[in-house]
Amino acid sequence: MPRKKVSIIGAGQVGATAAYYIAEKIIADIVMVDINEGLTRAKALDFLHAGPMRRYDVLIEGTDDYSRIEESAVVVITAGVPRKPGMDRMDLLKVNAGIVKTASENIGTYAPNATVIVVSNPLDVMCHVAFRTTGFAVRRVIGMAGILDSTRFRYFVAEELGCAPSDVHAMVLGGHGDQMVPLPRFTTVAGIPIPQLLNPQTIERLVDRTRNGGAEIVAHLKTGSAYFAPAASVAEMVEAIVTDRKALAPCAAFLRGEYGIENLFIGVPVLLGKNGIERILELELDESEMLLLQKSAEAVGKGVRELDTFFRLN
Ligand code: APR
Repeated sequence: MPRKKVSIIGAGQVGATAAYYIAEKIIADIVMVDINEGLTRAKALDFLHAGPMRRYDVLIEGTDDYSRIEESAVVVITAGVPRKPGMDRMDLLKVNAGIVKTASENIGTYAPNATVIVVSNPLDVMCHVAFRTTGFAVRRVIGMAGILDSTRFRYFVAEELGCAPSDVHAMVLGGHGDQMVPLPRFTTVAGIPIPQLLNPQTIERLVDRTRNGGAEIVAHLKTGSAYFAPAASVAEMVEAIVTDRKALAPCAAFLRGEYGIENLFIGVPVLLGKNGIERILELELDESEMLLLQKSAEAVGKGVRELDTFFRLN
């Protein structure tokens, strides 16, 4: 069977590190598209030079030419700019919406059968941009957020218990931001729900640290944001889609009534396979969990309304 092709728009920290994880697991051939042609060419060459030692024989290309993404099974959008001094949230939203729109137009033109994974922030809003611009089926536009938030929660639980991080499984729903909804009842260590293993105060502390997981890293880095765990999250999603694994993971999906939410991208558990989102799973949430999810959805809805204003202005 020929190897699948995965394209990554934006060869910055997250994009290039995702390419690295994908190459190391020999998941697919890779094309990295970036407006900074020198950067993407350099990174692609550098990767290729490491291949003989790391034993990956995949093709890796760096380009500024969108037509090279043709026949991609998956296209990941990581292109964007970080918030600069003097920029408010709305300024950032406009700039990144413009970048994601251009990327999405090109995906529609050159890779009309691809599944799109959106990574650029603000995530849930950028999913809307990609969805509207490509005109793709709802199940083929997916946001990467929940996997990242839940891997952070997994790690914090493992650190607290002194157990193997890979034995912990976690579920985090909602928007990607401080209104995310980590679900301790659905977070387990080898099948044991964490409320059986940790007291409520400790769980609350870990939930808080998860909500601030990205901000904690930004505070250390000063400039830039996290990229190893975001890139690993992208690679997990790409692998599940390319290998049709039907992996269960929280991702931002377009909801049409599920969880009582209409026409909004928000993090929920899904099955990932060759058709993108194969299924959305509806958990039975208790009252407080549902309330948190609704609040999170309201925050995402506000961002989308801001985006609408921008699109009307242009
Ligand atoms: N087309 C293609 N690439 C672009 C464009 C564009 N119009 N505009 C910017 N880029 C590229 C930049 O040249 C840069 O290489 O996007 C890349 C972004 O990389 P970084 O600045 O290193 O940002 P990164 O840390 O990778 O984060 C990317 O992911 O997690 C989110 O919030 C984060 O939105 C951000 C995105």
